[in-house]
Amino acid sequence: MDHFHVAIIMDGNGRWAQGRGLPRVAGHRAGATAVRRVVEAAPNLGIKTLTLYAFSEDNWSRPAREVTALMKLLGRYLVDETGRCIKNGVRLEAIGRRDRLPAPLVTLLEQAERKTARCRRLHLRLALDYSSRRTILDTALRLGNSVTEETFSEALGPDVDLLIRTSGEQRLSDFLLWECAYAEMVFTPRMWPTFTGEDLAQAVDEFHRRDRRFGRVACEDDARRTA
Ligand code: FPP
Repeated sequence: MDHFHVAIIMDGNGRWAQGRGLPRVAGHRAGATAVRRVVEAAPNLGIKTLTLYAFSEDNWSRPAREVTALMKLLGRYLVDETGRCIKNGVRLEAIGRRDRLPAPLVTLLEQAERKTARCRRLHLRLALDYSSRRTILDTALRLGNSVTEETFSEALGPDVDLLIRTSGEQRLSDFLLWECAYAEMVFTPRMWPTFTGEDLAQAVDEFHRRDRRFGRVACEDDARRTA
């Protein structure tokens, strides 16, 4: 594995907040702090690409107040963190649709992408207004008849090695469906706002303990090793 790609479905912000008698938005705020923690921890765990599910296409159907607060929070994250990303070698990129995001957020995204374009320590991808099915369909239409598995994979981005979902839920929710074809999955009961660098390290440890066979049988691996 020459390019360790970890993807995270950050779930449980609302439940964490409501369990404390706080508004859901307080959960998202605490969730943004957890994002800072994992971005700092990731490069030291050998992670080269980190993709975070920050806002799905389906999230537009949440109450307008919550959607607005999330968009503001994302903008604030970019304002606060772009400098630190440059300093720490983090290349920031958004995946997903941009045409429905607030214009000031798109401007901040483009600035952050431009300023961090040369950073190489970690590639941080934020999935915003993202749907995997839509991305797959759009990519297939764009590539047309000449598409091959290789050109398609290349256009979508790196395969996911490890997929983490917090809050005890165990589903993909339209996230990186193609790229997760052979991903190892770790589901943790932890709510996203309480997720730490240590939790990320534990998930990575668990990943390294897994036997990834990519459809082959174990003895074939053994045969290959002893050949
Ligand atoms: C899921 O929790 C989380 C989201 C829909 C938004 C994720 C956003 C953040 C972590 C904060 C901002 C992100 C960045 C990159 C700065 P939920 O609200 O669905 O929780 P619930 O299932 O308990 O209701």
